[in-house]
Amino acid sequence: MRTIVTGVAGFIGSSLAERLIADGHAVVGVDCFTPYYARTIKEHNLAWLRDQPNFTFLEGDLNELDLRALLDGADVIVHQAAQAGVLASWGASFQTYVDANIRATQRLLEAARDLGSLRRFVYASSSSVYGNTPDLPARETGLPAPVSPYGVTKLAGEHLCNLYAANFGVPTVSLRYFTVYGPRQRPDMGIHKFIRATLTGQPITIYGDGTQTRDFTYISDIVAANLAAATRPLAPGSVYNTGGGSRISVNALVALIQELAGQHTAVRFIEKQAGDAVHTAADLSAAQRDLGFAPQVDHRTGLAAQIAWQRAGLAEGWL
Ligand SMILES: NC(=O)c1ccc[n+]([C@@H]2O[C@H](COP(=O)([O-])OP(=O)(O)OC[C@H]3O[C@@H](n4cnc5c(N)ncnc54)[C@H](O)[C@@H]3O)[C@@H](O)[C@H]2O)c1
Repeated sequence: MRTIVTGVAGFIGSSLAERLIADGHAVVGVDCFTPYYARTIKEHNLAWLRDQPNFTFLEGDLNELDLRALLDGADVIVHQAAQAGVLASWGASFQTYVDANIRATQRLLEAARDLGSLRRFVYASSSSVYGNTPDLPARETGLPAPVSPYGVTKLAGEHLCNLYAANFGVPTVSLRYFTVYGPRQRPDMGIHKFIRATLTGQPITIYGDGTQTRDFTYISDIVAANLAAATRPLAPGSVYNTGGGSRISVNALVALIQELAGQHTAVRFIEKQAGDAVHTAADLSAAQRDLGFAPQVDHRTGLAAQIAWQRAGLAEGWL
């Protein structure tokens, strides 16, 4: 399989590229090192990949690169590049979200249109497309209603995939990831911040009262979903939830982190942030049926792995 991984220096893209290389595939990875978080962390994500003979890295912006040349001969595209983050998507930074999440996705789909070699285009969508749906666990057939500008841009990307599938037969599949965690998780994400505060003896800040719940999904389960989406026979324009299979409140999550880390710090509660959904929960029946998706990693195991990774990063000074 000749695979293009966009956003390859990021949390999910680098984890996915490593698995593809380990499975014997050739990977071309693209990333422009957006300044959302430190390049040193992304270089750390890429370190093993850069030494692999089957891996080629291209530094560049999807909005500037010659994408037809990039995609030449590719059989699979896994499009992970995006401007992530719900809270930062309000205000003037919205333009960054439009460029990275909508315009770059449209350019990639346009370049994929006449690519005879292409067997699958996997799009990294998000549970944020559901917003505060009262219909939980959320089903792919429900009406999406994002509550953040970020969610609006991710949904626009998904709709573009559906349009290019319906009109030009581009073999797209969208995976709606539910909050992903594990080693390499972005430093702006809740679990990363809670672990960092715990390990460094700082107070933990929770938005709202901590009773909000999340269907957290471990990184290796998201990687497995992408591999299944890349290789299984699926209808162009398909959309699947990929959640962790069980919900936990933020309060219970913080207690578990502190127990696993063996360290306890103060917890303070501040006002809920605009754009944050109250609860997320995935109906996984479609993903189970068509992707064979079955989350393998529970909260305790997954959090222990992320704590170990962050501990190492803090001790070595790159995190
Ligand atoms: N992490 C989660 O919990 C989560 C949940 C739902 C959806 N997603 C989606 O999964 C994907 C990966 O998320 P992540 O957490 O790994 O984020 P990340 O920020 O770690 O990785 C994204 C990478 O894309 C790169 N990038 C952004 N715009 C680019 C452009 N125009 N050209 C080239 N490279 C560009 C960035 O430099 C970054 O390295 C994103 O599409 C995100 O929206 C993530």
